[in-house]
Amino acid sequence: MTTLDSKTQAQIADALKPVLAESVQLYVLTQNVHWNVTGPLFQGVHLLTETQYTELAMAIDEIAERIRTLGSKAPAGLAAYAKLGSIADGDENASAEDMVKSLNAAHKQIADRIRPLIGKAGDAGDEVTAGLLTDRLTVHEKAQWMLRATIGA
Ligand SMILES: [Fe+2]
Repeated sequence: MTTLDSKTQAQIADALKPVLAESVQLYVLTQNVHWNVTGPLFQGVHLLTETQYTELAMAIDEIAERIRTLGSKAPAGLAAYAKLGSIADGDENASAEDMVKSLNAAHKQIADRIRPLIGKAGDAGDEVTAGLLTDRLTVHEKAQWMLRATIGA
């Protein structure tokens, strides 16, 4: 329950739904890389992706529960996420470098989606969502650095 009016709550919840969907898509993509990466980068990428998908699992729960707190239902199911989000599936046969690049691009995509929403949530008086999204942006920007560093970029 928040003190925001119901229309504002619904608007913010609707803006969070694609963030939830793309976080789930990124979770799946990250596990794909964790399982299928091969070559000299294996150890580093395998361990980094485990840290990242573990963090994402917690974040997905936080985002969905914020949507519920705002009075909306959290979209459930992969078909719903495919409609709301646009992070492409991975390729289990890609090179390690291409896998890392695909993860980097996905983190950037979510970061770019989140960035303008922080100000919108704050302007609407929803400091809690603004804070949650600021935390998510921090993670997605840091992940890009770590992934790029892994491939020397
Ligand atoms: Fe594992």
